[in-house]
Amino acid sequence: MAEVCLSGVWKAGPGEVGQAVSAALKAGYRHIDGAWAYRNEEEVGKAIHESGIPREQIWLTSKLWNNFHAPEDVEPALDESLGKLGTEYLDLYLIHWPIAFKKEGNNVLDVELTADPYPTWKKLEELVDKGKIRNIGISNFNIARIKNLTANPLKYQPAVNQVELNFFNPQPELLKWAKDNGLVLEAYSPLGSNNQVKETLSVPEVQAIAKELNITPAQAVISWHVQRGTVVLPKSVTPSRIEENLQVVALPQDAFEKLEAAAAAHPPKRVVNPSQGWGLGFDLFEDEWPF
Ligand SMILES: NC(=O)c1ccc[n+]([C@@H]2O[C@H](COP(=O)([O-])OP(=O)(O)OC[C@H]3O[C@@H](n4cnc5c(N)ncnc54)[C@H](OP(=O)(O)O)[C@@H]3O)[C@@H](O)[C@H]2O)c1
Repeated sequence: MAEVCLSGVWKAGPGEVGQAVSAALKAGYRHIDGAWAYRNEEEVGKAIHESGIPREQIWLTSKLWNNFHAPEDVEPALDESLGKLGTEYLDLYLIHWPIAFKKEGNNVLDVELTADPYPTWKKLEELVDKGKIRNIGISNFNIARIKNLTANPLKYQPAVNQVELNFFNPQPELLKWAKDNGLVLEAYSPLGSNNQVKETLSVPEVQAIAKELNITPAQAVISWHVQRGTVVLPKSVTPSRIEENLQVVALPQDAFEKLEAAAAAHPPKRVVNPSQGWGLGFDLFEDEWPF
């Protein structure tokens, strides 16, 4: 399942996400990474339908939002995504964050379900058996959170963990651990997201490799991700970039190693961390949580 290139649709706003999905499918992408929380599933579904590409040729991902972790809320949340996307099943459904909020109320932490996600997972397993989801996985789980989940007697192991991976936050330890434990990583914000993409594409090593191989800096970065063994989720609403991002190459080993070393040579800088914004009172990427 690794070594594929996909199209993510976060921050692709109304009116632009549909044309981005159409352009991606036309360019040859067959994997769309969405989520209930992106609030654009209806437009994504319409574009998929209008493409005329048979549903079974497309890999469609959505994610369970934090407010719906209570077992009785999981299926209605999934059904809402399925309805908006206009499909009877998802290829992959992820727990979007290892954080559960109460269904009602603004970011009120459900401490029990956050500390123990197994009841949520068991419900997801049931939905696999019901045929509504083909694979289940996790997102934004660090090693401690993964172990906290997989210590339970799971019927189905997480198929993937979707996490932030980019030049400024390459997470080599998590990558190694995932490889050693047979867990596929999906790289989100692979270009550094909209607020760090410029900086990423200007990195001297990225520029030098792009020049040497006669490819663009974005192609150099995406090729590096593929070569690391991850599934890459670049997002663009610009048709020319959508096409550009699909053209990956095999980097010569020395170029790959140069990029890997440059990425690991600075303190990691995460671009996505909602801990503060959600008022958690702890950093959700730290191993030690207060409960
Ligand atoms: N699981 C999670 O919690 C989570 C969190 C974040 C993201 N994600 C997933 O990962 C996907 C990608 O993440 P992201 O959107 O944060 O970051 P990204 O793909 O790293 O960066 C997107 C930014 O890069 C620009 N860009 C794309 N291709 C380019 C190119 N060839 N040259 C120059 N600029 C280029 C885009 O501009 P234009 O669009 O204007 O072309 C946009 O500003 C999301 O859509 C979502 O599916 C998941």
